[in-house]
Amino acid sequence: MKRVGVLGASGAVGEVMVRLLEQRAFPASSVKFLASPRSAGRTIRFAGEDHPILPVSDKQFEGIDILLSSTPASVSRETSPAAARAGAVVIDNSSAWRMDPNVPLVVPEVNPHDIDKHQGIIANPNCSTIQMVVALKPLHEKFRIKRVIVSTYQAVSGAGQKGMSELEDQVKARLAGQSEPAPAKFAHPIAFNCVAQIDDFLDSGYTKEEMKMVNETRKIMGDASIQVQPTCIRVPVVNCHSESILIECEKPLTPDDARQIWANSPGVIVDDDFRNRQHPNPRAADGRDEVFVGRIRQEIDNPHGLLFWCVSDNLRKGAALNAVQIAETMIARGL
Ligand SMILES: NC(=O)c1ccc[n+]([C@@H]2O[C@H](COP(=O)([O-])OP(=O)(O)OC[C@H]3O[C@@H](n4cnc5c(N)ncnc54)[C@H](OP(=O)(O)O)[C@@H]3O)[C@@H](O)[C@H]2O)c1
Repeated sequence: MKRVGVLGASGAVGEVMVRLLEQRAFPASSVKFLASPRSAGRTIRFAGEDHPILPVSDKQFEGIDILLSSTPASVSRETSPAAARAGAVVIDNSSAWRMDPNVPLVVPEVNPHDIDKHQGIIANPNCSTIQMVVALKPLHEKFRIKRVIVSTYQAVSGAGQKGMSELEDQVKARLAGQSEPAPAKFAHPIAFNCVAQIDDFLDSGYTKEEMKMVNETRKIMGDASIQVQPTCIRVPVVNCHSESILIECEKPLTPDDARQIWANSPGVIVDDDFRNRQHPNPRAADGRDEVFVGRIRQEIDNPHGLLFWCVSDNLRKGAALNAVQIAETMIARGL
C-alpha cells in the first residue's frame, strides 16, 4: 500500500484524480490533499469522508510515497524537486519537466518501460499528445509512421477551471442579451467561436502547445525522425479533445488494417460506422477512459496515407487517468 499525495487537488485535473483513486480502488494506505493557500478551509469528499485541503509546503511532502501533481508549471518547478527530495516519486502533469532528458515522459500503453529510468520525477505528457500517441503507436509498430498532420479541436477544460467558467459565463451572457465578460484565459471570446491559439506563440509562428505535440511525440515514441505538423485550435466544447489526423507510413496500409490493429490495442475503441452516422464525439467520450477513433479513410491517391478522427477525455486519459495509470504501472513493475 502506498501513501499518496494529490497536489492541485482543487483543480480540474486534481478533482478527476481524486475520483479515479476511488473508482480504481488505488492501493493507498493514506491520501493527503494539497493545493495553494487559497484553498485552505475547503474540504474534499473521498472514500465517504470529508478531508481538508492543506496548503502545500515542503513539510507536507514528508511521508508521501507517490505525489500526483497537477499545478501550473511554475509551481511544479519548485514543488516537484522538493517532494522528490523528501522521498516521494512525483508524477507531474505540468509542462515543467516533460522535455528534461533525466525525466521519463510516459504513456503506459506506449512506453511503460521508461518509468524504470525515473530519478524521482515522472512527467505526464500534454493532453493532446497523449490521445494521439495511444492511437499512433500500434500503427507505427507495424507500418512505421513517417509523417503526421494533425489539427486539434480542444475543449475549454484543457485550460482548467477558469477555462470552463469563461465559456459558461460568456454563453450565459450572450444568450441573455448582455455584454459578455472579456476574454481572460483565451485570446478571443470562446463562446460561439474558435480560437486558433493555445498557449503562447513562439517566434516561429507556432504555439507552445503545437511544439509540445511535435517534441513530446518524438520522446514518447522513442523516434526522433517522426514528422509532426500540428495546428491547435480551442473550440467551445466543455470537455474532451478531438483531433483530425493524417498519417503517412513507410509501408502501405488500409483502413481495415488500422481497424484490426486498433481493435486489439489496449485503451483504443474503434467507433467507425459511417453508414449509420456513427463516429466519435466529445459528449459521448466525456467521462470515458479510452481513446476513440473513427472516420477512418484512405488518403486520396496515396496507399501509404490514412486519415482518422480521434476523441478522448482530456481530463481523464489526457491528464488524471494517465497519471494514475503511471502510478499503477510503477507499482506493478515493483518500483
Ligand atoms: N486541464 C487539462 O486537460 C490538462 C491536461 C494535461 C495537463 N494539464 C496540466 O495540469 C496542470 C493543472 O491543470 P488544471 O487544468 O487542473 O488547472 P486548474 O483547474 O487551474 O488547477 C490548478 C491547481 O493548481 C493549484 N495551484 C495553483 N497555484 C498553486 C500554488 N502556488 N501552490 C500550490 N498549488 C497551486 C490550484 O490550487 P488553488 O485552487 O488553491 O489555486 C489548483 O488545485 C497544469 O500544469 C496543466 O497544464 C492540464
